[in-house]
Amino acid sequence: MAKIVLFGAPGAGKGTLAGKITKFSDIVHVSTGDLFRANLKNKTPIGMKAKEYMDNGELVPDSVVIGMVKKRFKEDDVKENGFLLDGFPRTVEQAKALDEVADLDAVAYIKIDKDVLEKRITGRRSCTECGAIYNIYNEELTPEEEGKCDKCDGDLMQRDDDTKETFEKRYQTYVDQSEPVIEYYREKNPDLIVELDGSRTMAYTEEELKELLPL
Ligand code: AP5
Ligand code: MG
Repeated sequence: MAKIVLFGAPGAGKGTLAGKITKFSDIVHVSTGDLFRANLKNKTPIGMKAKEYMDNGELVPDSVVIGMVKKRFKEDDVKENGFLLDGFPRTVEQAKALDEVADLDAVAYIKIDKDVLEKRITGRRSCTECGAIYNIYNEELTPEEEGKCDKCDGDLMQRDDDTKETFEKRYQTYVDQSEPVIEYYREKNPDLIVELDGSRTMAYTEEELKELLPL
């Protein structure tokens, strides 16, 4: 039962890689961004509170995110199959809170240059039903029918925070508040960190991923 953090800038490919891994592993994909979007869809108090931060490219306050993740960790699937944490921790405070509840096996650090990220973000389309991720600027990643999910026929949409302006803010938030998280792990235990090439998130094979990560 592995406990893995997927770490990387907005658009680095965390969700895409998680989608690849969960095809061959029972490990549970826990994305804090997806949890907030599900809360927002259901108009819960957490969702309504998170929306203003997300739309501004800022982080939702630590206390809200940490509480949400701790609650998710109490569910049976995570207890039985471990987790692939996507988008958490994003502050050193969150990393410390995670240390209190879990012994990590790896931190997968997806590295990528900023200049390719904007096109990935503005071209992304996500399925409103199953969350599958597409990209209209990449032939390999376009859906067969425009606006429809190949997997479940759900409608595809563009996230509210996937504009050029909000991307710039999200990226700056990442540099200011999230990059220190990698330094935190480097100081704590550098052996935890596995560097992955963000330009290859689609290309990694199952064998390669199993070799690199404790899956
Ligand atoms: P979140 O949903 O986590 O957004 P993010 O970190 O900005 O990351 P993204 O989902 O944009 O990128 P990704 O790395 O998953 O990339 P993807 O695989 O989709 O968070 C949203 C907001 O929620 C935050 O701004 C914050 O407000 C709040 N929040 C969430 N967690 C929080 C926390 N812990 N604390 C506080 N606030 C929190 O790929 C991107 C695109 O590129 C896709 O279209 C994909 O098809 C394409 N692509 C992927 N790989 C490749 C490739 N190799 N080549 C070409 N295209 C590719
Ligand atoms: Mg994502």
